[in-house]
Amino acid sequence: MKQVASVELAHVVKRYGDVIAVNDLSLVIGEGEFFSLLGPSGCGKTTTLRLIGGLETPDSGEVYISGEVVNDRPPYERSSNIVFQNYALFPHLTVNDNIAFGLRLKSRRTPEPEVKKLVAQALELVHLEDFGARRPIQLSGGQQQRVALARALILRPKVLLLDEPLGALDRKLRKAMQKELRRIQQEVNITFVYVTHDQEEAMSMSDRVAVMRNGDFEQIGSPQEIFQSPQTRFTADFMGACNIYSGRVIAADAGEVGCASAGTVQIETETGFTVMSRNNLELSSGAATSFSI
Ligand SMILES: Nc1ncnc2c1ncn2[C@@H]1O[C@H](COP(=O)(O)OP(=O)(O)OP(=O)(O)O)[C@@H](O)[C@H]1O
Ligand SMILES: [Mg+2]
Repeated sequence: MKQVASVELAHVVKRYGDVIAVNDLSLVIGEGEFFSLLGPSGCGKTTTLRLIGGLETPDSGEVYISGEVVNDRPPYERSSNIVFQNYALFPHLTVNDNIAFGLRLKSRRTPEPEVKKLVAQALELVHLEDFGARRPIQLSGGQQQRVALARALILRPKVLLLDEPLGALDRKLRKAMQKELRRIQQEVNITFVYVTHDQEEAMSMSDRVAVMRNGDFEQIGSPQEIFQSPQTRFTADFMGACNIYSGRVIAADAGEVGCASAGTVQIETETGFTVMSRNNLELSSGAATSFSI
């Protein structure tokens, strides 16, 4: 049986006037996957997330959630939920009431004893058992972030969309929350689509990462693939490679003079320096390329 994708984009385009924010994106995210969109400012991460969540409508292409086209469905009719960087908690409500908010909406009409039970479970999930009676202003940034997360997860979305949710936290707390987020994601087993411009963050939490550039995907793969085998100079540079050299392939794979074994290349730099490398890009003799040490 073919497994239904959790989120799928098929040739999605989004323009704002002359700006092409998202340019013909296609992508399949599996159920329960922790998937990160990583890239520099303005590359289209937030726009992609908003397209999945229904806060934007594509100019062309299809957005699917659990196998169904959702292009024309408003956010509240999609089985996705969004957590924003600024938490967007209701300041006048207690933690309990913030978390219960979605359950108490008319459209859900969850019975009050059930609400209490679910809120208690959600507080436990984010380790805030003793904080239910407080108001957001009486919480630290990390605690507020946990409340926002609990409020989103209590509705049991199939997909949780997170836009730089840890951006406002200091480095130490961010590290701790990264671990927490990953733990929670594994515990609830919900698909997470996570936006960040922080390489380390994406690498440490994700099952797969999409590196974005100018509204397009530059490379999609596991953190290890992206870090160890960047397919482009942009990805290598963005992942923090600090010495990138240009050169030309002078021998590729076994049999050619200078190449010892299959899957390797010999590259010569402009200054006549030669190196051996794995042939990640399946290059042939004569191809121009870059490498990093
Ligand atoms: N409402 C809008 N109107 C016009 N242009 C927009 C709008 N929203 C986004 N853009 C443009 O679309 C492009 C992608 O923006 P987007 O917010 O998706 O980037 P991002 O990758 O999330 O960046 P950042 O890391 O800074 O949050 C940018 O060039 C941005 O200026
Ligand atoms: Mg953004």
